[in-house]
Amino acid sequence: MAQIFPKWTNKVPLYVAVGAGLTLIMIVGLVWYYASPSYTDVGYRPTQPVPYSHKVHARDLGLDCRFCHTGVESSPVAGLPPTKTCMNCHNMIKADSEKLALVRESFSSGKPLEWVRIHKSPDYVYFDHSAHINVGVGCASCHGNVAEMEVVAQHETLSMGWCLTCHRNPEDHLRPASEITNMNWTPPANQAEFAAKQIERLKIKAPITDCTGCHR
Ligand code: HEC
Ligand code: HEC
Ligand code: HEC
Ligand code: HEC
Ligand code: HEC
Repeated sequence: MAQIFPKWTNKVPLYVAVGAGLTLIMIVGLVWYYASPSYTDVGYRPTQPVPYSHKVHARDLGLDCRFCHTGVESSPVAGLPPTKTCMNCHNMIKADSEKLALVRESFSSGKPLEWVRIHKSPDYVYFDHSAHINVGVGCASCHGNVAEMEVVAQHETLSMGWCLTCHRNPEDHLRPASEITNMNWTPPANQAEFAAKQIERLKIKAPITDCTGCHR
């Protein structure tokens, strides 16, 4: 019998299957790439293992940011609190809460809680918290009003353009040391005067746009 379809068409289902497989891999790869923390920016708000709330702890209870993020003034990284910090209160407060089960488990096993990282600069970028905190740039300038967040979400792009916009004109972001963690601070009427004094006193070298400052 004459062949209606040439012999190679026998392999068509195979080509289709391989093609579909590759397309699927590409889609998964792209989603993975763009949805990974370094490629999602403003609004990135992963679900955390424990429903810890900054609104409850930082706003309602009034705990200072540095009570838990102890590295901010002295090192590049802010740091997350060890489970012991939580248990200092939660061995008494809500000691039987289901929501704190993982916290108790972590405390008794000694294994740290696995919080999902939200803000992340690429490895080729050098960022230093203490360099900012010590000249008077407050947390809210870069992280927004965290004390109003039930779940932390990224507030700024963290892009190079964003860094440089402030590095060229940091004046409106400089505040007295006492206001560093105040989430409701706004520049007062005499801000320009204060900023000029602060820049002179702390020898701030604005504009800070030298490539090697951030890519070292
Ligand atoms: C009682 C401890 C505690 C206090 C007080 C606290 N935090 Fe946190 N913070 C945490 C924990 C735990 C996490 C990790 C879980 C999460 O993201 O909610 C975190 C996460 C964060 C993150 C996101 C980290 C990342 O992965 O990018 C930022 C930003 C942050 N805190 C800023 C602040 C600021 C600003 C304040 C003060 C207004 C503050 N925190 C007060 C415990 C605390
Ligand atoms: C200074 C004391 C203190 C510290 C430190 C503290 N908490 Fe709390 N936490 C509280 C209080 C008070 C409440 C509110 C209890 C209530 O709603 O009556 C609370 C509520 C909670 C809840 C909700 C519990 C529920 O059943 O509603 C979770 C989850 C929680 N905290 C997690 C944490 C984690 C994680 C840490 C450490 C990063 C931490 N807390 C550190 C005092 C503290
Ligand atoms: C000048 C902007 C800026 C200021 C001011 C700032 N942060 Fe950050 N923060 C960042 C950037 C950028 C990252 C990501 C850094 C990285 O991946 O190396 C980050 C990461 C973090 C993280 C997670 C990683 C880590 O370092 O532990 C926490 C927690 C945090 N910041 C808390 C704070 C707190 C609390 C304050 C105020 C006391 C603050 N930040 C002030 C820009 C800032
Ligand atoms: C809201 C303002 C602001 C933002 C946003 C900001 N910075 Fe800065 N940064 C400053 C100020 C002010 C200084 C202090 C400069 C000085 O001491 O001369 C500084 C200093 C630094 C230094 C230390 C420079 C040195 O040589 O001492 C580095 C590194 C740095 N910033 C990196 C970054 C990176 C990376 C980003 C973005 C992810 C960023 N900054 C975002 C205001 C900002
Ligand atoms: C204030 C800090 C800062 C300074 C100064 C700075 N950069 Fe960057 N740069 C960054 C950050 C942050 C990123 C990462 C942006 C992101 O994650 O999207 C970046 C990314 C880059 C990239 C990768 C771009 C891309 O699209 O992926 C290049 C190339 C680069 N910078 C070159 C430079 C050069 C050249 C200079 C000097 C003219 C410079 N940078 C100065 C902070 C800085």
